[in-house]
Amino acid sequence: MEAFVIRGGKRLEGTLRVDGAKNAVLPILAASILTEDKVTLEDVPQITDAAHMAEILEILGCRVTRSGRVLTVDSGNLSQWEMPDRLSKQIRSSIFLLGPILSRFRKATVTYPGGCEIGLRPIDLHLRGLRRLGVVVTEEGGLIHCDGSRMRPGDVYFDYPSVGATENVMMAAVLLDGVTTIHNAAREPEIVDLQNFINAMGGHVRGAGSHAIEITGVKHLRGVIWTPVPDRIVAGTLLAAAAITGGEIELTHAPGGDMVAVLSKLREMGCDIREEEARLCLRAPARLTAFAQLQTQPHPGFPTDMQVQMLALLAVAEGTGIIVENVFENRFTHAGDLNRMGANILCSGRTAVVRGVEQLYGARVTARDLRGGAALVLAGLRAQGETQVDQACLIDRGYDHLEDQLGALGADIRRTAL
Ligand code: EPZ
Repeated sequence: MEAFVIRGGKRLEGTLRVDGAKNAVLPILAASILTEDKVTLEDVPQITDAAHMAEILEILGCRVTRSGRVLTVDSGNLSQWEMPDRLSKQIRSSIFLLGPILSRFRKATVTYPGGCEIGLRPIDLHLRGLRRLGVVVTEEGGLIHCDGSRMRPGDVYFDYPSVGATENVMMAAVLLDGVTTIHNAAREPEIVDLQNFINAMGGHVRGAGSHAIEITGVKHLRGVIWTPVPDRIVAGTLLAAAAITGGEIELTHAPGGDMVAVLSKLREMGCDIREEEARLCLRAPARLTAFAQLQTQPHPGFPTDMQVQMLALLAVAEGTGIIVENVFENRFTHAGDLNRMGANILCSGRTAVVRGVEQLYGARVTARDLRGGAALVLAGLRAQGETQVDQACLIDRGYDHLEDQLGALGADIRRTAL
């Protein structure tokens, strides 16, 4: 097992480029099997979720090659429509393959991806959406069998704007002859990127980024070279790292237009942020000021994937603030570790009340999920003394060598094997 060891107290300063977005790369990798031609993705960060998704594609019969940040998928020999149990449990986003496999084979067998630390992560909305497209779904012993032999376009309404369910239905509909409409669709920027990727392949999708997406089926999709959008959550995390250390950084290739809610909250805490095209410059005060309240919402509301990073900032801010987590049911699992570092966080259900403290103190803590682990690293950057964050592998799921990125900005952080 590996851990990050951080000696706190260093102001972060410098410039860093933001890589391609994990939550765009994963559905786009799934969508790459919608064509038998070769698909090339550029600017793909070295994160383990992408590596695991590539591994699943290889097990299904695709040829996947990687050279640096360029990842190529050739699904000409794709033969498997049954998802390997071991891998589909390993990463939740394997469920994104359900729609593309149905498009390709008109049948699919997947296992329940299972929950994780932040919640049960059901897939009822995915299955309900596919049933609206005529897919016959039967469940037996944890296996989900999908018969798409009578798939047809249709109108899909989501009770909740689920990101994954929106993406799955979009990918299931792109080769169906006719028009499919998704109502109450999720509006995340990564869904817009998936739409643009599919259209670059010759698809006909309109409306991503709004609550209504219209997919007009086409007969064939062709290979393409694609660069995914920059990662707004990694960008937000790096800005939060500068904010918690009273630092001053510049991010290039940053998706500021997709980060309005996050930038607004950082400004509310006293950060001066300048946006110039794809550059974001943040200068933080010596001590942050607590915002009164933060509510996580589907996009364009405040993103749940930045909630726990803001919890760490609030922990050392002047004043008291409240965070309400409306998207996942269990996303305060790291409050206990932050309190062990000297924070004053009181959680009840989906609400955390945070009284800012002057100082945090280094401790040995454990990452339990991707974003919570990143938040513990942020706290360590501010804490007096040394902090060890165990389970660095969970952070590697979505951050490309976070120690190198923060180290390049002046942090005293190293990776160590335990
Ligand atoms: C995507 O997960 C992201 N993952 C998550 O990022 C992100 O937190 C989430 O969207 C919300 O923005 C990827 O894109 C790979 P949802 P997804 O379906 O699609 C409930 C990260 O850290 N729900 O929008 O799984 C669900 O339980 C990860 O990068 C159902 O009830 O999110 C949750 O409470 C974490 N039934 C809410 O909807 C369903 O069928 C939002 O889930 C599906 C979801």
